[in-house]
Parts: sequence; C-alpha cells; structure tokens
Amino acid sequence: MKIEQATFVISNTDYKKCPQPDKPEYAFIGRSNVGKSSLINMLTGKSTLAKTSQKPGKTQLINHFLINDSWYLVDLPGYGWAQASKADKEKWTQMTRTYLRHRENLLCVFVLIDSRHEAQNVDLEFMQWLGESQIPFAIIFTKADKQSKTRTVQNVEAIQTKMLEFWEELPVSFTTSAVSNEGKEEILSYISSLNET
Ligand code: GTP
Ligand code: MG
Repeated sequence: MKIEQATFVISNTDYKKCPQPDKPEYAFIGRSNVGKSSLINMLTGKSTLAKTSQKPGKTQLINHFLINDSWYLVDLPGYGWAQASKADKEKWTQMTRTYLRHRENLLCVFVLIDSRHEAQNVDLEFMQWLGESQIPFAIIFTKADKQSKTRTVQNVEAIQTKMLEFWEELPVSFTTSAVSNEGKEEILSYISSLNET
C-alpha cells in the first residue's frame, strides 16, 4: 500500500471529541521517547506531520491523522516517563486508556518498544492490560538502526521469552527504524490487510 495523502485532523483530550468512528483506526503507544511520532512520519513519508522531540513527553494529546481519505493513524502520549509529574502521568494514563477502551473503530494498537532495551515492566504490564481489556495489539521494536542486527534479534527474543511467561501466543511483531525506513512496507501491508477485513 502507498500513502498518497496524510493530513492532521484534530487533537483531543477526550475520546468523545475524536472524529466520527466511521473509518478503520490504528493507534501508536509506548514509553515516552520510544519513537511513536517519528514512526508516523516514517510511515507517511512526511517528516514534520507528527511533532517529535529528543526530550520525552512531547506528545500530550490524542492526535488524529487521516490517511488516503480512508483510515486514521493516531499518535498518543507516551507512558513510563519517570520525570513527568504525578498529575501529568495520571492525566495521560486516564486519557489514553479511556480512548483505547472506547474507540470502536480501533482495529489495532501498535505498542512500541525500544529494541535496545531489555523487557521493561511498564511495557509488559501495559500489554497485560490490553489483553485483559481485549484490545487487539501488535508490537513494534523501534530504533533498530542504533545497534547491530544481531543485538536487535537478541533483545527481541529476550522480550518475547519474557512475554511467554504470561502469554500463550505472541502477538505479531515488527522491527523498525525511522532512519532507514526498515519495517515500513511490512507495517503498511499489515494495516492494508486489516483495512480489508
Ligand atoms: P513522546 O511523544 O515524548 O512520547 O515520544 P515519541 O515516542 O513520540 O518519540 P519521538 O518520535 O518524538 O522520538 C524521540 C526521539 O527518538 C527523537 O529524537 C527521534 O529523532 C528519535 N528516534 C525516533 N525513532 C528513531 C529511530 O528509529 N532511529 C533513531 N536513530 N532515532 C529515532
Ligand atoms: Mg510523540
């Protein structure tokens, strides 16, 4: 699938004010700074569509982007940023979880995990919550350009091993780099296949 059109639609704090849920939707979540906004820019080929930053905590709202006039990509605030204030953390958790639980057109949540790190409890717990809430998700291992392929594979396998302590089956996963575009075609064809269901 090719992305011909990608436009920003609206930012919200309340899922009720999001666009009409009449098109397939895909949301990106994960720890602050893991590369959610950069991935949206990489997938759409528009480097300034979603706002990115070297500092964690950049994305603070539910941001809808309309793609090819027929489906939505959604950029969400990150979780797990230790330096964020307690009030901000609670606000983001409440906002994103309410959105994820209620958004009826959400076909898949992409959970982004930094491919350089070992399994973090905050990610494992978040995926547990998605499972308990029966929200379908896939995993994206980001920033693969930052280390060797061998290292990425080792880290991904370690995280998957940890997941198998809780899960009978592993979710679909992708490895990406917003620098080299690794994983772009794979994610777009996955979305395309879900769009057709
Ligand atoms: P929040 O909105 O704060 O939750 O962060 P985010 O997950 O949206 O991360 P963002 O896309 O803003 O990226 C954070 C930093 O990581 C930026 O400096 C990006 O340039 C960098 N980055 C993101 N993806 C990649 C990648 O695949 N490779 C490399 N080398 N850097 C990346
Ligand atoms: Mg962001």
